Amino acid sequence: MKSNALQPSGKALVPFVSVDNMMRLIHHIGVEPMLTALAGYVEDDFRRWELFDKTPRVASHSDVGVIELMPTSDGEAYGFKYVNGHPKNTKEGLQTVTAFGLLADVYTGYPVLLTEMTILTAMRTAATSAMAAKYLAPKGATTMAMIGNGAQAEFQTLAMKAIVGIDSVRLFDIDSKATEKVARNLASSGLTVVACASAEEAIEGAQILTTCTADKQNATILTDNMVGSGVHINAIGGDCPGKTELHRDIVARADMFVEYPPQTRIEGELQQMPDDHPFTELWQVITGTAQGRRDARQVTLFDSVGFAIEDFSALRFIRDQIRDTDYYMDLDLLADPDDPRDLFGMLMRSA
Ligand SMILES: NC(=O)c1ccc[n+]([C@@H]2O[C@H](COP(=O)([O-])OP(=O)(O)OC[C@H]3O[C@@H](n4cnc5c(N)ncnc54)[C@H](O)[C@@H]3O)[C@@H](O)[C@H]2O)c1
Repeated sequence: MKSNALQPSGKALVPFVSVDNMMRLIHHIGVEPMLTALAGYVEDDFRRWELFDKTPRVASHSDVGVIELMPTSDGEAYGFKYVNGHPKNTKEGLQTVTAFGLLADVYTGYPVLLTEMTILTAMRTAATSAMAAKYLAPKGATTMAMIGNGAQAEFQTLAMKAIVGIDSVRLFDIDSKATEKVARNLASSGLTVVACASAEEAIEGAQILTTCTADKQNATILTDNMVGSGVHINAIGGDCPGKTELHRDIVARADMFVEYPPQTRIEGELQQMPDDHPFTELWQVITGTAQGRRDARQVTLFDSVGFAIEDFSALRFIRDQIRDTDYYMDLDLLADPDDPRDLFGMLMRSA
């Protein structure tokens, strides 16, 4: 049936994954198996890094936050994510980060998937962190410090458990209610969960230090004297101009690994450093063209800001998972006139 009738044609329909269906899908797969599978998709795309269209995300800043578009393409599919970052939002009962995304066919330009990405972003960010830690964290890491116990925290922790094999997490947040929430949510995760009263206490004995705080400023979550040798720092929260988490001296001392340098330079901990500060691109570690962790005493730093290719991987994963399932609904998104050039006629006939 054509779209001048009540029922839209198949060509008009785009699979849409709502928040409800995303949650059903994640429960169906299981949180940890899905984090592991997602990390596999991200890793596959990091191996294909050179063939992607790459650009720093397009950011629109205001005094209170940022709204960003994150596009990329592998030549066959095109994807983008809409995402915001508003640290003041939680005080108003809203989330700091919300997102949705779209995947399209490069040959026709037609969208093939529209999906919620607030939950999916937390999953892909955690999967990417754990993938990086697999290459950079000290061998046999068992304990992680999780500083910043907001929306991302449980995802970050469970990905390190599933992919890196940690068995213990030490939590800290300036808001003890956030720490209580994470401790409650992870109570039956199989992890030993320790709530701490300070960042110093949280990093005691930890080999992986994750900072995932939200503040629209240059914060100092970790100072140089707090960080011993041989640890891996997974810095997630410094992801905007003027928004960092680490003291400059740690950044200077650590070996830095980044996603896409032109974006990290503007948004990551790297913004604190001079233009000639050395770093390694993570995709090169994954393809074996650059070295990851060199020795047991080295401090490694994943200066994560979140790059479009990781969202593209997550969109690909969802497209593959929902095929022949009821984890999506069809959206009447694309006008489909009988004669492709008679868009106006289609409108008139619908009156
Ligand atoms: N790198 C990426 O790919 C990526 C992806 C998603 C989110 N992020 C960033 O991660 C950060 C956290 O996101 P979220 O969704 O969990 O935010 P959120 O607002 O839900 O949680 C942030 C938590 O940080 C805590 N906090 C703030 N300042 C702190 C400090 N000095 N010490 C300890 N805790 C502190 C807050 O109390 C809050 O509980 C944000 O800055 C976000 O932009 C990065």
